[in-house]
Order: sequence, then structure tokens, then C-alpha cells
Amino acid sequence: MKITHMRVNHRKNPLGYLLRNPIVFSWQVADPKGKFEKACRILISKDENFKNIIYDSGPTKRNTPVLEVNLNLEPRTRYYWKVFVWDDTGNYTESNISWFETGKMNESWNANWITPDWEEETCHPILTKEILIKNNISKARLYGTGLGLYEIKVNGQKISDELFLPGYNAYDKWIQVQTFDISKQLKHGKNKIEVLLGNGWYKGKFGVMEPREKIYGDKFLFLAEIHVEYEDGTKDLFVTDDTWEALPSPIVNSSIYDGEMRNYYEIPNIKWKTRIINLGFENLVDRLSPPIKIIEEIKPIKYIKTHRGERIIDMGQNMVGWVRFKARIPKGHEVVLQFGEVLSDGDLYRDNLENAKQEFRIIGDGIERIYEPNFTYFGFRYVKLIGFENININDFVGCVIHSEMERRGYIKTSNWKINRLYENILWSQKGNFIDTPTDCPQRSERLGWTGDAQVFSNTALYNYDCVAFYEKYLYDLWQEQKDNNGSVPMYVPALKFKQNPKRIYVGIGSAGWGDVATILPWHIYLHTGDKSILKKQYDSMKAWVDFIISQDDGSRIWKRGSFFGDWLALDSRDPNNKFGSTPMELISTAFYAYSTYILANAAKILEYKEDAEYYEKLYEEIKEAFKKEFITPNGRVASDTQTANVLILKFKLADEKDYKRIAEDLVNKIIMAKGHLTTGFLGTPYLCLVLSENNYHNVACQLFIRDDFPSWLYAVNLGATTIWERWDSILPNGEINKVSMNSLNHYAFGSIGEWMYKHLVGFQIDETNPGFSHAIINPKPCKFIRWVKGELNTISGTYRCEYKIINNRLIKIKVEVPFNCTATFIYPDGDKKEELMPGNYEFDYIPEETFEENFSLNSRLFDILAHPKGRSVLLKYFSLLLENYSPNFSDLKDKTLDEFIKFNAGLFFRNEMLNILEKELSEINIYEI
Ligand code: BGC
Repeated sequence: MKITHMRVNHRKNPLGYLLRNPIVFSWQVADPKGKFEKACRILISKDENFKNIIYDSGPTKRNTPVLEVNLNLEPRTRYYWKVFVWDDTGNYTESNISWFETGKMNESWNANWITPDWEEETCHPILTKEILIKNNISKARLYGTGLGLYEIKVNGQKISDELFLPGYNAYDKWIQVQTFDISKQLKHGKNKIEVLLGNGWYKGKFGVMEPREKIYGDKFLFLAEIHVEYEDGTKDLFVTDDTWEALPSPIVNSSIYDGEMRNYYEIPNIKWKTRIINLGFENLVDRLSPPIKIIEEIKPIKYIKTHRGERIIDMGQNMVGWVRFKARIPKGHEVVLQFGEVLSDGDLYRDNLENAKQEFRIIGDGIERIYEPNFTYFGFRYVKLIGFENININDFVGCVIHSEMERRGYIKTSNWKINRLYENILWSQKGNFIDTPTDCPQRSERLGWTGDAQVFSNTALYNYDCVAFYEKYLYDLWQEQKDNNGSVPMYVPALKFKQNPKRIYVGIGSAGWGDVATILPWHIYLHTGDKSILKKQYDSMKAWVDFIISQDDGSRIWKRGSFFGDWLALDSRDPNNKFGSTPMELISTAFYAYSTYILANAAKILEYKEDAEYYEKLYEEIKEAFKKEFITPNGRVASDTQTANVLILKFKLADEKDYKRIAEDLVNKIIMAKGHLTTGFLGTPYLCLVLSENNYHNVACQLFIRDDFPSWLYAVNLGATTIWERWDSILPNGEINKVSMNSLNHYAFGSIGEWMYKHLVGFQIDETNPGFSHAIINPKPCKFIRWVKGELNTISGTYRCEYKIINNRLIKIKVEVPFNCTATFIYPDGDKKEELMPGNYEFDYIPEETFEENFSLNSRLFDILAHPKGRSVLLKYFSLLLENYSPNFSDLKDKTLDEFIKFNAGLFFRNEMLNILEKELSEINIYEI
């Protein structure tokens, strides 16, 4: 028995992070002897030998996957902790020692903010100082931060592999302070500190509204204290002040959107003094952002010379970061690398980058070097190389950057297209998890759009442990709300509008966007069982709901707001309409109800009795008003969009008796759309979920395996390696859709991942027992997929579930439940259950309906139509009928092809044709999508 995954506030050995009470500790047990953790004990000490213990839980029991502890911590102090675990067989084990270390907390600063003392900003500066270390060091820490971005070297070596420090947040509200352990970098004698500063989000070009640069400030700034403890017990303190100097760097300019420009040829021979700036210290807060790093490296797959003679390298993957390369650039000669996502007519297409240049320009000095940018990142698959002499693609490496997060889920199936879709979802998450969850990583936007973050959050939490990442985003969100009457801006950070300081915030709360304030903490709670997230966000959650109340005229229908509707839905007659045609008030009131429901639940969990009662009552009122306004007494929904029914089913906004009809009507709406989805940002995440949860799993599967427009696999067919912003970002002929706002790396529609985990694999959360200490495992095979394998490394341990269709009849299911967890296994049809203890299980299941390997006249019409090969056969024979769906068609939803032919085409269809059709269908392997 071994203790693993020791985490403090969902972080491993956190150094200098903000630690707010209650602090949560979690761990897992590997190689157990028994099945359950009977008791645990956690010890926290100020020394490694556990002599100076500050907390001892005594033998206790974890009721959730995390143990909450309230601590009185001191600044700049390392604490050590370990856990003891007893299992149900009387075995006992002790963990290794882990630690966490506080940053400056509220301690006052001795250092000063400094900036180069120059007339005019000529380049990106390097602030430098020599310090004298008088003795052998036992401990040295640097506490500091820089604006817009900074990178520190001690004696020529970077002190950390983190990128884009201090991160991207609402700098006008709080500035994150980092702590670095530099005990090993400093040596006895003279030491040189160098700090390179960049523009970043703080002062570089950024944002979609004026001013598009210098949003938070117009100066390069740096602040640091170096605390040194010597082996002899004495101490030293070095701080930033005006004795520091500034030197020019080769970086002439940089911005997140435009890239970086360097000139090695003409670095001015100049030195500046620095001066002290009074920026104050009140906004300094110990960091929350997990580190951004180069997480993986990939090799280009192809070198392309276009018909215009352009030279391009293809990374084979739409990725985020940059290429690193080795080159000797002749003196005074310029090379340019331009980054883009797609080729059009054989050339690099960059119009979808809008106002972002995405380029790396370098003027050389004849010295061979390895180049990579410091203060910018690109969203790209292709790199155009201009000014290079010889190109060898082996000299280029793709550096994939994102915020650090551990993988949680894995899904693999027998079908390559589905596997590729899943990979695309992961790539879009990686590419947009760069300190803030962004809409896209390439065009002149890259903003923390709240709606996008909201709709993708459940999928994200299944894919990766991104709790720490989201904790920072939610902290930012709350800072923005405080100044804005509880309303949530369209994107967080909201940026700052200098020209009109009163209108600091972008828009007033939008339905489905602002609701990230309630939905995201709720999802985190469900995935982790960690109530402290609800506690930390409670004020923000409540402020958001109270803001909606302030917009409510008493009718409980939310009418006022700047709404985005069901963004990019396909159900509007006007192809230029981005909002879809679900009534705005239906959407807004549905989210009003859902946010209130979540808030009432959070209040109950946190035992805020009064609030729980108040918001529960409010929720009932909203639900009543909603029903009156949008559902007829017989259960018809007063909107003809799919999203309307989806939201009602998901948020449970109807009377019990009506759900059956609402689900049925949803299926009819899908049929009317020729078996396609028409949903946008708000309907899409829940579409397949509500179908599978309301006895229409087969329809969910039909939608899921389609590969014609619009569908998830349509993009895969066209070679997508990430999730696109639009259902038709690329047109069927392979050309990019030249509309404005067309990113090829936008995770919102990747929210289908949640359905894949919950229904295709079957990993469901038990809301009464969140954090997977008890899970519901309910795999639901899809007749088009022969096998599925899933793994979920939850905070409580690793679950596995896999199954295989054998001989079209039998389904063999294997399940693994981790130590200290239990699960309810539900057979695919939902009719039988089994309670599982930790261990491995195998189930044989014979479905009611035989799965077929090949189609026949007895196959369901809509199964054949959903199947790419089946559809093309049917279209040959019945194109007219099938292209002109009539409302009667919905009567056919459970009918076989045979019945369809009799019903519609019997008279015209000759027997020999029937035989040929049957033969063609029998040659299709259903599993080959
Ligand atoms: C963004 C979206 C966002 C939307 C809202 C777009 O420009 O890229 O993803 O949610 O605006 O209007």
C-alpha cells in the first residue's frame, strides 16, 4: 500500500501560491491490500522531522475526497505534511513527505517598482543588478513580479521554465506575485541578475475594442526581493531600487497578437538608469496561475513549395506555441516566419487572423543561434518561411505551450474518426488553456469569453485536472464582478477602457455567458467533491444571481440584457444571423432558473439555510413563469428550435408529465432538419446528453456518427485536427469559409466530449456523492462502434470501463472501481443495476435489439441515413424523397427501410431494384464510418 497524488489545493508541492482557508488536502492509495480507507491522519509541520507540528488531525475519516483544514500560516515559510492511512484489513501506511510554501502573503514590501529611465521606449529592456553573496547559502528565494511579462536569469541561466510570467489576469484588480527557489542558482561571490521585460497583455496590442494597446499600463515594470539565508544563520535582503540598470535587448517589439521582432544587428550600445515608480503594493497577491510551459514538442511533417514559390512547413497539427529553430542569419538580413492555420488554393491563408499579424521577424548578426520567441504565441499548423537560405525541416521543432494540468480522461474506440474527434477536443483544450480559458488562440481575440468557458467546462474537467487553472479564472471573475453590480463581463479579464472609464465593463451580463459564475464552480464541485470551491465562489455566484434579479421586472422572465442567444446556431433563416432563432427570453430565463437552482444547492451544501430557502423559492417561481410563458398546457414548446427543447430537458423546466413529449418533439425537430443538429453554443453541449437521458440514445448516436454538414465528424472528414468555431468553418470543397470570425481552434463545440465520457463510456457523476467516491457507471453502446475503452483518473482514483460488441449480439463489459470507491453499475438499457465495491468486474449483456454488422432492409431507416455509407446508397435510390422531408416523415422514426419503402415508394419500386439495394446495403460494414 502506497500513498500517491498528494495535493494541496489541487496542486503538487505548491510554492508561493495564494492559500485561502479552508485549505484542502487530497491523496490516493496505490497497491492497496484492502478495499477502503478506514481512517487517515494528516500531520503538518514547520520542519522536515515533524518536531514543530502545527496541525495534527488525529485519526479521522475523509467524508469527501478532500480533507479541509484551516491554518494560520506565516509568510515565506515552508510547511511539510504527511498522511497516514489505515485500510479495512488493518494495514497501515505512511506517505512520503510533501510540502507547500507560502509566498509573501500580506507582508509589506521593502522593494520598489522600477522602470528604465529612458526618454523613449526603444526596445524591450533587460534590468540588471550584480549582488554579492557573502557566504554559503542555505536558502534563497526571489519574490517578485514584472509587467507586462518578465523572465529572470541568474548568472546567465533562466531560473524557471515558466513562460508568460506573471500570467494573464485582471491587472487593474490584482497582480500576481511569484516565488522562486534560487538557492542553487546563487553562488558565493558576485551574481548577476537579469530581467527581460515584454509587453504581453498588460501593455501590448490586445483586445477587440479601443484602446487596443496599453490597456493596463504603459511602462515596463519590475519588482523583486531576494531573501537569502546563509548556512551560518545570518541573512541578506536584496531589493529592486534605482541602483539597478537597464540594457537593451534584441527584442524591438512584441505583442500577443502580432508576434515578436528582433534585431541582433543593431543593438544600441547604451545603458540606462532605472527609476522608481509608485505603483503601490495593495494589489499584489500571491499567485494562483498554474505555470505555462512548453508541454510537448512535435516535428513538422512536410515541406511545401507553393505554386507562387512560397516556402511553408506543415506541422501536421493545428497547435499553439511556436517553432524553435537553429539558423545563422547573415548580418543585417531579415527572416520572417508567418503563422497560419490553413492553406487555401495551395497558399497560406491568414485572413481569419483578423487583426493579428502572428509573425516572428529577426534581423541577424551572422551568429548561429537557436531561436524561439519569448513574449508571443501563435495558433497555427503552417509556417511560411521568408528570407531563409536553405530550409531543412529537421531544423524546426514545434513547441506546444499551455498551462500545466494533469490528464484525467482517456477514450479510445474502434473508429478512427471518433478517435480523431476526441484528439481534436484535447488539442483545442490545450491550445486555449493558456492561463485564461480563451475562445481561440490565433486571431485578434484570444479572450477569456465566459460563454465558451462555461459550455466547455465539464468536458475540460473530464479531460484534465484543471481545477487550479479554473480557480484563478474564477478569482479574476469575482474581482471583475465586484465593481460591476455582480454582473459578469462578456470576457474575463474584462480589459479596461481608458477612453470611457465609466464603461469599464464589456456589456451587461449575458445569459449562458455570465452563468459561468455559477455553473463552473458547480462543475468543479461535482468533479472533486471539494466544497471549498463553492465556499470561495459563493459571493460571486450569489452576486450573479442577484444581478439577474435586478434585471427582472417581477415577472421572473429575464428580459433585459445583452444576449448572444444560441450563438452560431443554424436554425435561423438568415445565414448571417449569428444568434440563432431560439427566443432570447427563453434562453435567458432558462439560465436564470438554472443558476438559481445551482445557487440554492450550493447554499444547502454550505448550510446557509436562509439563502437556501430564499433561492429555492425563487427557483420555483422562475420555473412556473417559464412554463407559463414557453410551454403549452399540453406540453408543446413555444419555439421550433432544437435548443429550446434541449434547455428545457436539461434544466428540468417542465412538468413531469411533459418531458416525454418534449423529448419526442426534439427528435421530430432533428428529423425535420434531415437528421441533423441545428444547435449553437448553448444547445450543443446538452443535445446528445438529453437524448441519451430521455430514451433516445439511438438518436444521439445517429447525430454523433454523421459526417456530413453539420456534424462533429464533418470536420474530421475535412482533415480537422482541432475543433472549429463554426460547423462549416471549412466548406465541403475543402476551402476555408471566408466569413469573418472563423477560427479553426475554438473548443465550444468540443463540448460533445462530456457526452462521450458520460454515455458512450459511461462515467457519470453521482451528484449526491460528488468527486467519484461513488460513481455511476452506465455504458451505452452505440451500434456503429464495435468497441470503446475509457479511463478516468479522478481525484478519488482511477476508474476503467470498456466494452466490445461480440457477434452483434453479446456485449462484454469490463469495469474497474478504485480503492476506497464504490459504484453503481447500470446495464446499458437501464433496467438492471449492480452495486460494486473496489475491484475488477466483467459483465455480459445481451441487448434487446440485435446489433447488425451489415445493413439490410430491416435496418432502421434513420440508422442507415446517419451512416455515411448507408446514406450514400439510399440517396442513389430515394434522393427526391429524402431531400424533401415532409412532416409525415417523423412517423417513420422507428420504422425499418422496408416499411419506409412500402409506405412511400412501394408503387414505384421494382423487385429487381429492391434486390440490388439489399445487396449494396449488405456490403456495408456498419462499424466502418
Ligand atoms: C468569440 C466567441 C464568443 C462570441 C460571443 C466571439 O467573437 O470568439 O467564441 O463567445 O464572440 O459573442
